[in-house]
Amino acid sequence: MQDKRTDKNAAPQPLLRLCNASLRYGVVDVLQDVCLEISAGGPVILMGPNGSGKTSLLKLMMGLAAPSSGDVDCARSQVSFVFQKSVMLRRSVAANVAFALQAAGLPANDKAVRAALDRVGLSHLAQRPARRLSGGEQQRLALARALSRNPAILFLDEPTASLDPAQTKAVEDIVQASAAMGVKIVMSTHDIGQARRLGSEVLFLAHGRLVERAPAASFFNKPESPEAQRFLAGELVISQEALS
Ligand SMILES: Nc1ncnc2c1ncn2[C@@H]1O[C@H](COP(=O)(O)OP(=O)(O)OP(=O)(O)O)[C@@H](O)[C@H]1O
Ligand SMILES: [Mg+2]
Repeated sequence: MQDKRTDKNAAPQPLLRLCNASLRYGVVDVLQDVCLEISAGGPVILMGPNGSGKTSLLKLMMGLAAPSSGDVDCARSQVSFVFQKSVMLRRSVAANVAFALQAAGLPANDKAVRAALDRVGLSHLAQRPARRLSGGEQQRLALARALSRNPAILFLDEPTASLDPAQTKAVEDIVQASAAMGVKIVMSTHDIGQARRLGSEVLFLAHGRLVERAPAASFFNKPESPEAQRFLAGELVISQEALS
């Protein structure tokens, strides 16, 4: 039994901590002195212009890149990720999920595979070759694989960048349902509408620095950093031009 008094008074243990983390490729500083703690709660959205370091920051958090200086502290066994384009094994949809379950050391029986596919609405395609699926279906399969290992954190790097609105909605629904079940979502996106729909908190990057961190509502209503103000104003102009 846990001691409730201690529980109540204790600060939530962060799932992930970056302390002065920097990333350098050759002479280029891609990320500089990022300090950040991520704890349980609603989805965290990473935003920033092209080349600001979003993918690099996700790679550091996921352990796919090592910091050139500073520290990154995260329980790797508890994380999953999905990128903009996912690689499918040359096998059936069901076999792709079974492989992910096995890789995570979990039972890969029919029931577990079916549960994972039900979660993303792909059970009816279980026997299809995975590589024949549409782009949107492949992203949902990638999510089924990523979620099948019951991650504490799910990292997503622009998971809907090449999807149409209906498939984007399907992916957003899965992300929201996963967040509601307690999976911590850390996701990059260029889509401000999507960030507003999904985000509980926003991290804004510019030139490899974390320049703003704010609850989503206050970030979109009143961004504090000049970089985020410019970014949001620019995106607004572009989306209005697209509508006219
Ligand atoms: N392996 C690498 N070697 C050299 N430079 C790199 C490498 N990976 C990334 N960079 C550089 O680091 C910077 C940040 O790249 P990153 O991909 O993290 O940005 P991003 O915010 O994800 O951009 P986008 O919005 O286009 O996806 C860029 O200037 C990029 O050219
Ligand atoms: Mg990127």
